[in-house]
Amino acid sequence: MKLQSSGERMLNYLRLSVTDRCNLRCRYCIPAEGIQPLPRADLLSFEEILRAVELLSALGVTKVRITGGEPLVRKEVTRLVAGLKRIPGLREVVMTTNGQLLEKFAQPLRDAGLDRLNLSLDTLNPDRYQQVTGGGNLSRFWRGVRAAEAAGFSNLKFNCVVMQGFNDDELGDLALLARDQPWQIRFIEYMPMAGQAESWAARYLPSGKIEAEALRQAVASSGSDLLAARWTPAGFSGTARIVKPAGFRGSIGFISPLGAHFCHSCNRLRLSSDGRLHACLLEEGSVDLRALLRDGADDAAIRSRMREAAALKPERHGVAGLDGPGAAQPMSRVGG
Ligand code: 5AD
Ligand code: SF4
Repeated sequence: MKLQSSGERMLNYLRLSVTDRCNLRCRYCIPAEGIQPLPRADLLSFEEILRAVELLSALGVTKVRITGGEPLVRKEVTRLVAGLKRIPGLREVVMTTNGQLLEKFAQPLRDAGLDRLNLSLDTLNPDRYQQVTGGGNLSRFWRGVRAAEAAGFSNLKFNCVVMQGFNDDELGDLALLARDQPWQIRFIEYMPMAGQAESWAARYLPSGKIEAEALRQAVASSGSDLLAARWTPAGFSGTARIVKPAGFRGSIGFISPLGAHFCHSCNRLRLSSDGRLHACLLEEGSVDLRALLRDGADDAAIRSRMREAAALKPERHGVAGLDGPGAAQPMSRVGG
């Protein structure tokens, strides 16, 4: 029996947080007061993770995204990638990273069999980059991108969290990266994660506005009206509306977790670094797999708890808008 939640949604995509630690402190991710890192003993070991993912894969999970925190700060993460790649039934193992350590890790990740990379990129301006990431270095980021391409990662995807009054004047330039490179530039609505309520209310821009503004700026800076006519949707993939303007090597995605509800087609599960299986990022309610894994529970018992977690997936999340409760957990813990 496969993992299913209400509305017959098949849960086949696991986001796996391998650490809550990060070498950056992005404003939209880490609350102003910081977060207390989990004691190391609380993190699942690679062996525990692999057992959990093997069981999940038998229940229908076919794709795993490794996240953090920053996954590349977890020691020997390439060993985990190689282990995941050996699980039959997993078709894709991908990773989301901030890219700061990628120059060193790109080739080993490729050698371990990693299929694809998503990178966080919120601005093209080095000072802003340093500001929004709390100390990140934009040239180091681009060196990481080049190393990834040299290692054979094509089709890179870039995630840009749009914040009004911070980077909404760069949407056109960011979008135009996809004209010259075979990349997907994905604009993501700012979500109100724990400790974010105040800055979120001031900086949230809905996806429709993001799209209109990106188009306006791209047309203005490329000097071509043709672009507007060609800005036609190329499809809807999972959680993103994708446009592929003619003449572009890549594409542009608009991701609207808040503005346009995609809960009805959400196929995701999340396993936090401390071993809790969540069916929804924005709602509380999870199952503690770590206790089971450490208490010597047998496969059948663990599978049945996994089904319970799947059943906890709400019809739709309760973060409705400005008055919404905000998400329960910091993003860096539960895994973006
Ligand atoms: N809103 C939207 N996306 C977020 N991320 C982290 N925090 C937020 C937030 N508040 C996403 C970003 C980043 C990834 C690691 O997590 O896309 O690239
Ligand atoms: Fe780290 Fe990613 Fe959060 Fe930035 S968004 S602080 S890179 S986990």
